[in-house]
Amino acid sequence: MTHFKKKLQIGNINIDFPFFLAPMAGVTDYAFRVIAKEFGAGIVYSEFVSAHGIIRKNEKTLKMIQFSDFERPIGIQIFGDSPEVMRDAAKVVYEKFKPNLIDINYGCPVPKVTKKGAGSAALKDLCLMEDITQAVVESVPKIPVTVKMRAGWNAEKIVSTEAGIKLEKIGVKAITLHPRTTVQMYKSKANWDLIKELKENVDIPVIGNGDVSSIDDIKKMFKTTNCDGIMIGRAALGNPWFFTEIKKYMNNEDPKDISMKERFEVCQKHLDLLVQTHGEVIGTNNMRKHFGWYFKGFKDASALRKKLVLVKNYSEMKDILSNIRH
Ligand SMILES: Cc1cc2nc3c(=O)[nH]c(=O)nc-3n(C[C@H](O)[C@H](O)[C@H](O)COP(=O)(O)O)c2cc1C
Repeated sequence: MTHFKKKLQIGNINIDFPFFLAPMAGVTDYAFRVIAKEFGAGIVYSEFVSAHGIIRKNEKTLKMIQFSDFERPIGIQIFGDSPEVMRDAAKVVYEKFKPNLIDINYGCPVPKVTKKGAGSAALKDLCLMEDITQAVVESVPKIPVTVKMRAGWNAEKIVSTEAGIKLEKIGVKAITLHPRTTVQMYKSKANWDLIKELKENVDIPVIGNGDVSSIDDIKKMFKTTNCDGIMIGRAALGNPWFFTEIKKYMNNEDPKDISMKERFEVCQKHLDLLVQTHGEVIGTNNMRKHFGWYFKGFKDASALRKKLVLVKNYSEMKDILSNIRH
C-alpha cells in the first residue's frame, strides 16, 4: 500500500483514483467504458480516432467520439500526421463534444497508421511531434492536452525522455509512457526504467503503462518508477473488476471473488450496451471477442466460448447467457 498514489491532477482535472482505462481500438467504445467506469476506473479514454476522419466529419468517426456524462472524466484520443489537420480536429472535438481532455497518440505501431506518418511514426521525427503538439495545445486552450507515447521507434533510438522534456515545454499536461519501441510491438517486457527516467526529468504527471496485471505489478510499478498514475490495458479485457480490486486493496478491504452469476450479468449488460450503440448485427459481432476475454481460463470455458462465438444473433446470445446463469 505504501507506494500507491491516491490522487492526480491533470491541468484543471482532478482525478480521485489514478488508475486509467487505456485507449484500445475496437474495445474501449461507449459500452466498455461505461462498464469500466462502473467498476471504478478513475478516467477512461476513447479508442484512437482519426484526425482526418474528424475534419471530414465522417459519420462513423464522429460516432466514436460520443460519450455520456457518466463516463467523465474522459479523454478523447486523436491521431494524425499533420499539425494543421490535428489542430482542426482537436478544435472540432472540443467544440462539438467538450471532453475533459484531448490525448495525442504517439504510440500506435500499426504500419497502416505509421506509414502515413501518424501514431508512433512521430517518434522518428521529434520536430514534427513538436509541431503537431503545439498546434493541438494552441487550438484547445480550455482543456488539457496529454500525450501517450512509446519509448522510441527502435532500440537504437529511444527518445521518451527527450520527447517528454520538449512536450512539457509546449504545454502538454501529462504523459503516458508505454515503454516499448514501435519495432518491438508487444514482444518482451516493457522497460519500466524509462518511465522512471521520464518522471525524473519532467514536472508534469507521468502515467506508467505496460504489463500491469496484478496488485503486485502496481506495487512494483509505483516503486520502480515513482509514476503518478497507472494505465491499464489488456488486464482489463474481460476483467473490469480489476479496478474494484485495486480500490479494495487501497482501502484495506478483502478482495472479492467474482461469481459466475456476476460475470454473466456483466456480459449481458455489455452485450446490451453494444447493441444499443452499434445495432444488433455489429453489437452482437463485437461481443464475441469480449466473451473470449470474460471466460478465459475458466473451467468448461472453452465449450462455452465456442457456443457463444457461434451464435447467430442477439436473442440466441441472450438465451445462452440467461440459461447458464440459472
Ligand atoms: C486491442 C488493443 C487496442 C489498442 N488500441 C490503442 C489505441 O487506440 N490507442 C493507444 O494509444 N493505444 C492502444 N493500445 C495500447 C494500449 O493502450 C496499451 O498502451 C498497451 O496495451 C500496453 O498496456 P497493457 O500492458 O496494460 O495492455 C491498444 C492495445 C490493445 C491490446
